[in-house]
Amino acid sequence: PRGSLECLAVPAPDLEIYDLADEASRCSAAVWHLVDSGMKAIAGGAHRLRSGFQWQRGMRFRSLGTQVVNVASSEDIAAFAAMRPHPRSVEYLTTTVDPRQIAEFLHLEMPIRYAERIRALEQVPRWQAIPDLVDVHDIHVKSFKSFRVSELDDFAEVTHQALLREQTVVEKLAKSVHHLRDDAGDGITDDSVCRNLHHRFARTEFGCIGSLDNETALRSQFLDDFLLNRIGCQVLLGHYLACRAGQRNGIIDTRCDTRRVCRAAAEAVLDMCWECTGRRPSVFVNAHSACGGKGTDDGQVPRFPYMPHVLKYIVSELLKNSCRATTDMLSAHDLQADDFPINVVICADEDHVTICVADQAGGIPREANPWSYLYTTAEDGAYGGTKKLAGHGVGLPLSRLYARYLHGSLDLVSLPGYGTHAYVNLPRVESQQVEVVPDADYEYDYANLLDFTV
Ligand SMILES: Nc1ncnc2c1ncn2[C@@H]1O[C@H](COP(=O)(O)OP(=O)(O)O)[C@@H](O)[C@H]1O
Ligand SMILES: [Mg+2]
Repeated sequence: PRGSLECLAVPAPDLEIYDLADEASRCSAAVWHLVDSGMKAIAGGAHRLRSGFQWQRGMRFRSLGTQVVNVASSEDIAAFAAMRPHPRSVEYLTTTVDPRQIAEFLHLEMPIRYAERIRALEQVPRWQAIPDLVDVHDIHVKSFKSFRVSELDDFAEVTHQALLREQTVVEKLAKSVHHLRDDAGDGITDDSVCRNLHHRFARTEFGCIGSLDNETALRSQFLDDFLLNRIGCQVLLGHYLACRAGQRNGIIDTRCDTRRVCRAAAEAVLDMCWECTGRRPSVFVNAHSACGGKGTDDGQVPRFPYMPHVLKYIVSELLKNSCRATTDMLSAHDLQADDFPINVVICADEDHVTICVADQAGGIPREANPWSYLYTTAEDGAYGGTKKLAGHGVGLPLSRLYARYLHGSLDLVSLPGYGTHAYVNLPRVESQQVEVVPDADYEYDYANLLDFTV
C-alpha cells in the first residue's frame, strides 16, 4: 500500500505483515490495525502514529487488506465503527490543554465515535423512511467525512462546522421517536433486531425484556447509546475549542462552585417560568459538605473538577420540571408559592457530590415512565411556544445521560400526593471521572456504573 490509498478495508484472510516504522511513514492516509497479543488498537496516518499512538518498536501489525475504499463510503464507516473508542478522564482533560495535541487525538478518535453513531442509526428498523433520521444520518456522514479528510491545520474550522451542523440533532431525534412510535409495525419488533440487542438490555432498566415491550426498549437503548456517544464528542470538541481560545483548563473548571452554578440555574429557570406561566415559585439553594472546608471545599460549599455548563444543564432541567409542576398545582388550586417551596440541597463527601432537587408538587404517577424519550405531559405550545419550559420529553433522559457520562447517576423518587425528589450523584475524584463511551462491539460493564439508591 502506498500514499495514493485513502483507506485500507476490513481484513482479507491473506493478511500481510509489515514493518510499521518503514511502511507507516510512507502510507500517510492508510488506516492500520495493530495486532499485538490479541489487543486490538488502531492507528491512522503517519503523523497520527507519531503523536497519539503508543506504538512499540517490533510490534507486529497487519494491513487491513488491499482493497481501496473511498472515504466515508459504507466500508470506510464500517471499518471505523469496528474500532474501539478511547475514553478519556477529567484528569486527561485538565492535563492536556495544548490544542495541537488534543487535535491529534481527536483527528483519530472522532471518526471512530461518529462511525459508531452512524452504525447505530442504520440499525434502527426502517430508518430510511423517517425523514428526520435520514437528516441526522446525512449530518453525521458529512461530519465523519470532514474529520476523516481534515488536516491538523484546518481542524478547528472542521470542528466549528461539525458543531454548527449538528445543532438540530437532538430535536430531530426527539421528533423521530414519536414517528417510530406512530409507525411501529412488524419491522420494529423484528426478532433479529431484538435478539441482537437482548444482551444489552440485560444490563439496563430493561432487564426483563419479556415484561417490557421490545420497541420501547429498542428506541430507548438506541437513543441512550447514540446520545451518550454524542455527549462525549461534544465535550471533547468543546474542550479543544476552549483550549484553543486560551481558556486555562479548557472546558473544565477544576474548582467548580456547585452552589454558584445551582443558583445561576435557579435564577435562569425562574425567569423562564415567569415568562411562560406568569408565576414564580420559591426556590432555595443550600450547600453542605461533610469535608467541612477540608480539601477543595470552601467551608460548606463543595467544589470539584467538573464542567459547569453540564452541571447547570442538569440542574436546570430538574428545576424546570419542578417549577412547571409547582406552578400547575398553584394555579389549579389557587395556592401560594411560599407554601410550596422547591429546595435544592447540595452535599458532598470526599468521593461524591450529591444534589437533591425536591418539590412539593404532587409527584409523578406510578404508572408513568419519565425516563422514556416519549413521555411528556406538556401539551404542544403550552409553557412557551418554543417549548422552553417543557415539551419535548427528553429533559430527564438526556440529563441522566449527562450525569452518567462521567460515571455519575440521576435518580427520581416520586412521593405520590406529596412531591418529587431528584438526586444527582457525581464522582468528584478525577481518576474516577472517566468517560462512558458506548460501543456495540465492546461489552461495557454497566454493573460498574454508579448505582445510587436512596
Ligand atoms: N418534578 C416533577 N413533578 C411532576 N412531574 C414531573 C416532574 N418531573 C418530571 N415530571 C413528568 O415527567 C415528564 C417528562 O419530563 P421531561 O423528560 O423533563 O420532559 P418535559 O419536561 O419536556 O415534559 C414531564 O412532562 C412530567 O409529566
Ligand atoms: Mg422537562
